[in-house]
Amino acid sequence: MGITIRGLSHDFHGQTVLNDINLDVSAGTVLALLGPSGCGKSTLLKALAGLLQPQKGTITFGHQCIYSENINVPSERRSLGMVFQDYALWPHMTIERNVSFPLQMRGISRDEQHSRVAEALNMVGLDAFRKRKPAELSGGQQQRVALARAIVARPQILLFDEPLSNLDRTLRESLCEEIRVLLQNLGTTAVYVTHDHSEAHALAHTIAHMEAGKISDIQTLRH
Ligand SMILES: Nc1ncnc2c1ncn2[C@@H]1O[C@H](COP(=O)(O)OP(=O)(O)O)[C@@H](O)[C@H]1O
Ligand SMILES: [Mg+2]
Repeated sequence: MGITIRGLSHDFHGQTVLNDINLDVSAGTVLALLGPSGCGKSTLLKALAGLLQPQKGTITFGHQCIYSENINVPSERRSLGMVFQDYALWPHMTIERNVSFPLQMRGISRDEQHSRVAEALNMVGLDAFRKRKPAELSGGQQQRVALARAIVARPQILLFDEPLSNLDRTLRESLCEEIRVLLQNLGTTAVYVTHDHSEAHALAHTIAHMEAGKISDIQTLRH
């Protein structure tokens, strides 16, 4: 499912944070949104996620307008998976329950939950850790749990907000490669926010450079 963004603008207390953003993400491709801290990357991602309502513009997923002046499809009906910098796992739940949570919310049967959680944990190499709590895992492992949770419901679109920023360099490189392979295998459309050039180059089909609320350049790396 492709993403089309037209004329998206947003102010916070008179400060223009998104300034007439126009952007297309082709179905099944990865777009990296690359730019310095404070340029509006997370704000744009939140608009896609349905966590923020921009003052102007439209967002279309596939053929469905999900956001406009009169339309605001709620986050849980946008077929999204999200991975944030801080993992955002529930500390009191086991890994297995963290990952099955999105399926539980969708009323999926216990058996189906079980097999899909096993599949997702297997994809991120964490099957052996399913009974542990997040605090019993390293940062890199916790982020893989967040990744499994993002893909378990087989969303049409994956959104990443600097998912590797809290990890050390070696781990960052290996997990970046894992995410690249995972996205390639899944063929899910993805938007990946980062301020790191090498991550953007390693992962993306297209890089959208962002500066002070505007897309300043679009660079196609691969098809
Ligand atoms: N909820 C908010 N209220 C007020 N200002 C905000 C809010 N969220 C972000 N901003 C401001 O908007 C600008 C862009 O923020 P953000 O989208 O988080 O940038 P990035 O993710 O590129 O670092 C920053 O100046 C930030 O301080
Ligand atoms: Mg940010």
